[in-house]
Amino acid sequence: MSEKLTEKYLQIIGGKPLRGEVNISGAKNSALKIVGAALMLGNGKCVIKNIPHLSDMSVMAEIVQILGGEITLDDRTIEMDCSNLSSNYVPLTLANKLRASIVCLGSLLARFKEVKIAMPGGCNIGARKIDLHLKGLKALGAKITEEHGFIHAKADRLIGTKIYLDIPSNGATENIMLAATMAEGETIIENAAQDPEIVDLANFLNKMGCDIRGAGTSNIHIQGKTLADLHSVEHFCIPDRIEAATYLIAGAMTDGEVTAKNVIEEDLQSLLSKLEDAGVKVQIFPTGEMIDGRELVDIKVSREGERLQATDITTVWYPGFSTDIQPIFSTMLAIAEGASVVKENIYDSRFQHADELKKMTANVDINAKLAVFKGVKGLKSASVEGKDLRSAAALVVAALAAEGTSEVRGLKHLDRGYEDLEAKFIKLGATIKRVSVAENLTLSRDNSTVVENL
Ligand code: EPU
Repeated sequence: MSEKLTEKYLQIIGGKPLRGEVNISGAKNSALKIVGAALMLGNGKCVIKNIPHLSDMSVMAEIVQILGGEITLDDRTIEMDCSNLSSNYVPLTLANKLRASIVCLGSLLARFKEVKIAMPGGCNIGARKIDLHLKGLKALGAKITEEHGFIHAKADRLIGTKIYLDIPSNGATENIMLAATMAEGETIIENAAQDPEIVDLANFLNKMGCDIRGAGTSNIHIQGKTLADLHSVEHFCIPDRIEAATYLIAGAMTDGEVTAKNVIEEDLQSLLSKLEDAGVKVQIFPTGEMIDGRELVDIKVSREGERLQATDITTVWYPGFSTDIQPIFSTMLAIAEGASVVKENIYDSRFQHADELKKMTANVDINAKLAVFKGVKGLKSASVEGKDLRSAAALVVAALAAEGTSEVRGLKHLDRGYEDLEAKFIKLGATIKRVSVAENLTLSRDNSTVVENL
């Protein structure tokens, strides 16, 4: 028995300094939530600009369509009209393709006071609980049942209240904020997530007629409105800080000079400070352009010949060092002089890149959520596989810095979060291409698989 499969990987010839400018796309973790929140608007249109072209965005658009919403994407602008939404049921086949689908729980509960949604998917980086989402929605008056992988939430009335989050979860903050926009009276979320994507979502909702104050701090106040208070809205999503970080670190690690265009300095502060600790020169160039009262800047990183220096990092909630940047930054530390201690506090499995880096001659000791990177002079090429979005990105950066030709697999993860990754790196001078290999899979008599590359 024989069948054909197509395997794709990135072939990267590393060891060249990256130089030039890179345009940063809109933030994935912002745009996805804003599209999910736009499901709430029963009368009017949402125009959402600076949408990144990502596979996760396509799934979110499918969710809008299956619920009966109209959605079009023209270049980087989504137009949505959910006036005739006909369903409040998000099926498993779509919900489990991405993490951000869970935001539909809050928006549909706000609009219809009832929603049935399958559990979300997302990267396999450890336990990704939603107990705080549910605790918050229950406190607002929803009755919640969980059965066969689905969450069913229903409320006669949603009533504003004070909700303390044990940890400042992004998703819980978003879902509670969404449901509270339609609750009677005031809701206060204490110990809320302070991430820039929360602020972006709150800005979008306020432009739509909601009343949210304090987003970006640990106490968010939401004054409930009714569906009739909401109206058409136009919004421009913030730039993707994790994408920007990826290109800046790649520039530093390859001994190059890379400028990330049109980003928000404040959102990248913890990274920039750590880059400087590692001996990277960071320069900021104001552009004069603003997004929601915050200035866009160009950030340039460069090296002045000396070797990168070891530095320790500890991931914590924003504004601390981001867990999403950790795999990429710690990859850079693999070639820094000295030993760097990296402590991951948010997820259980965020060192999946480190085992693969060992194949590239990195010297890393991993002990649960702690890793020590003892810097080697340089990495060597290897065939490696990213097991989640950021570990795949980290391995691409490693391959760009390594001597020789590497193969990086795990592109289905990469494509969820990086728009035009190859084109952007090629513009910076990288030699990188996506290779498709048709494989002839032959099942032998004992059903084990024999692979012959054609
Ligand atoms: N947590 C709980 N209970 C909850 C919610 C979260 O214990 O009710 C725990 C989780 O188990 C996890 C941690 O808190 O260990 C972080 O969860 P959080 O809810 O903050 O994360 P999220 O909303 O699921 C978003 C991003 C992640 C990013 C985190 C933290 C999206 C789609 N995802 O996830 O992004 O790591 O916030 O900043 O917005 C990525 O882009 O690669 C990515 C994983």
